[in-house]
Amino acid sequence: MKKIKTHNPEETEAVGEKLARDLRSGDVVGLYGGLGAGKTCLVRGLARGLESSGPVSSPTFTLLNEYPGRLPLYHFDLYRIATPVEVEDLGFEEYIAGPGVCVVEWAEKAGILLPTGHWKIKFEIRGKKSRTITIIPPLGA
Ligand SMILES: Nc1ncnc2c1ncn2[C@@H]1O[C@H](COP(=O)(O)OP(=O)(O)OP(=O)(O)O)[C@@H](O)[C@H]1O
Ligand SMILES: [Mg+2]
Repeated sequence: MKKIKTHNPEETEAVGEKLARDLRSGDVVGLYGGLGAGKTCLVRGLARGLESSGPVSSPTFTLLNEYPGRLPLYHFDLYRIATPVEVEDLGFEEYIAGPGVCVVEWAEKAGILLPTGHWKIKFEIRGKKSRTITIIPPLGA
């Protein structure tokens, strides 16, 4: 487990970029934290670290964005999802079982569809521009 304090969005992006070095094919990363906590910001750094092409935007309205890269990155945002059945309808389980990296905002909404062996990243808002980010790797990572 690692706890990092960031003081601006660039530092949170850098945390994502660094995390990308530790990710392997098939890894799933769950992001936990409230509105504006910095989840999408971290995904931006993750995409850069995975050498993904294209700008990362919030997939709130599309629920899923895909970025090809060193490893393909699948970026889910489950904020608008009401039940895990809707998550299933996205084909979530196939992406999770596939060789890409899946990163999931509002991961708690996926319920039991999230594999037990996933990275947990928790965000806490400490002030206007400060965040505490806790990284809990899956067992064996
Ligand atoms: N240390 C920081 N890390 C990340 N974002 C920060 C930080 N300080 C301020 N911010 C601001 O907080 C906001 C974070 O937005 P972001 O879209 O990444 O949040 P989110 O967790 O994805 O929210 P949502 O649940 O709405 O998708 C941005 O406006 C960013 O500029
Ligand atoms: Mg977001």
